[in-house]
Amino acid sequence: MSQALYRKWRPAHWDQVIGQAHIVQTLRNALAADRIAHAYLFAGPRGTGKTTTARLLAKAVNCLDADKTNQPCNQCAHCQAVNQGRFLDLIEIDAASNTSVEDVRDLREKINFSPNQGHYKVYIVDEVHMLSTAAFNALLKTLEEPPAHAIFILATTEVHKIPATVLSRCQRHEFRRIPVNEIVANLKAMAEGEGFQVDPEALTLVARQATGAMRDAISLLDQLASSGQRVTLEMAQDVLGTAASQSVLEVVDALLADESAAGLDAIHRSLDSGSDPRQFARQMVDYLRSLLLIATGNASQVDATSEVRAQMARHAQAFGVPGLLRVIQSFNQAAIEARLGWQPALPLEMAFLEAMAPAAEIKTAAPESKTAAPAAHPAHGKARPAAEKVMPAAKAMEEVEETAEAPEDASANQRLEENWRKILAALRERDSSLAALINSVKGRQLRGNVLSLSFASDILQQKMEMGENVRMMEEVLGEVLGLEVSVRCQTVTGKRSAPPPEVDSDGMVAAAVRDLGGEVVDVQ
Ligand SMILES: Nc1ncnc2c1ncn2[C@@H]1O[C@H](COP(=O)(O)OP(=O)(O)OP(=O)(O)O)[C@@H](O)[C@H]1O
Ligand SMILES: [Mg+2]
Ligand SMILES: [Zn+2]
Repeated sequence: MSQALYRKWRPAHWDQVIGQAHIVQTLRNALAADRIAHAYLFAGPRGTGKTTTARLLAKAVNCLDADKTNQPCNQCAHCQAVNQGRFLDLIEIDAASNTSVEDVRDLREKINFSPNQGHYKVYIVDEVHMLSTAAFNALLKTLEEPPAHAIFILATTEVHKIPATVLSRCQRHEFRRIPVNEIVANLKAMAEGEGFQVDPEALTLVARQATGAMRDAISLLDQLASSGQRVTLEMAQDVLGTAASQSVLEVVDALLADESAAGLDAIHRSLDSGSDPRQFARQMVDYLRSLLLIATGNASQVDATSEVRAQMARHAQAFGVPGLLRVIQSFNQAAIEARLGWQPALPLEMAFLEAMAPAAEIKTAAPESKTAAPAAHPAHGKARPAAEKVMPAAKAMEEVEETAEAPEDASANQRLEENWRKILAALRERDSSLAALINSVKGRQLRGNVLSLSFASDILQQKMEMGENVRMMEEVLGEVLGLEVSVRCQTVTGKRSAPPPEVDSDGMVAAAVRDLGGEVVDVQ
């Protein structure tokens, strides 16, 4: 069984922590001067090194090396015990699953016993914002008078949910998103260490996609390299879905041409073929953000072939910067809205309609004014008859009512979503590369007892269908959901192919087919 890459590459020494020099320096100084605090709060985005740093600190304070500047030495008995996860005085508590007062009380009782092996008992409380108020209060009592042998390290991604009374008792450190160039350098070293063949542009793409989270970057690399082939920019774009899909281009065209029906239609077709609404919204934001970069003179930051870039420049110009800002805002909202809404497509539909019309127009629209002229203004964002914006919205709502009528599927899917993390964790225990593969799935849906998984490329689908993967996934689903489920695999984007002869060879359609995996479905 292979070990997940990000665990294998968890920094064992301070020097290996990247992007958090301000924190590492402060902690190392405190260690050298023997000024260890009893309560720390590590706040910051996921995957930026909070748990890693907490473990380094726990290891360093218990390290047996005589030279303080060399702690943790990773050689002594204590350091080795921590590295192997068997050091009794390092207690890691996941607040997400131990939120009750009893759990904290239990902790308060145990904390008074002296350390078993080490100098300090170190408690790492992960996701501390998940504690209930009562549990926080119990914790507070401990933080008020911690025994001399105890060190608390509280970690959170949501520092605004931590009561001020707790904050004021902790030494606080803010973890930052890691800059792209540092992620790239780290990934490069890792790829070399693992013997992966990866093109530099692919690493940059992965690093950007990770938005500052090193763990995400490593998982993405793991996922790409799991195919065993050389990781090229093209393959990375394929798998990570950063090249705009045909549907995204259609929606953008509809926005610019002011055609609401065509836009909603493109959205629905994409969702019907298995796209995840939130993922779709993200793809919209990705594409529009690239347009914004181009429109503001930062085209070099956009990963695209020169041909696609030329077409993007045309789109960018048609929107203009203010138009792009407004449209990005709408789709960004849809991208962050919970996928578990009772009607998953709605945020996307609303984003589209909002992007078409400035907010005021929608508000003042009178549904009865059906006499609206057809949309014929190519110029985006001009004042138009209002009804035209309202009708598709009303239509979308009707469809919402209809689709809501499959309660069994809805609740089964809800259960699937709620347990998805558990499923991934169970998979990871068995086979981390299968977990990475499943993590890359673009869409998932339960119908009856069949789970359809949509992969972004046939390489990935084929990989899934190899060996015991499907059976193992079914087994895990059975364990976690208590359901007998059979797994079907499909690929959502088509293969790259040459455009048909009737298509102008340097036009947009040709680019979409050739470079973006689009497919010509109808020629009029
Ligand atoms: N600053 C960093 N330097 C080097 N590697 C890092 C860094 N941050 C994260 N990683 C890598 O990502 C993995 C996960 O990091 P870690 O568990 O420390 O993140 P975290 O901030 O605790 O995230 P979460 O909020 O999700 O718990 C590590 O095992 C390591 O491989
Ligand atoms: Mg963590
Ligand atoms: Zn040591």
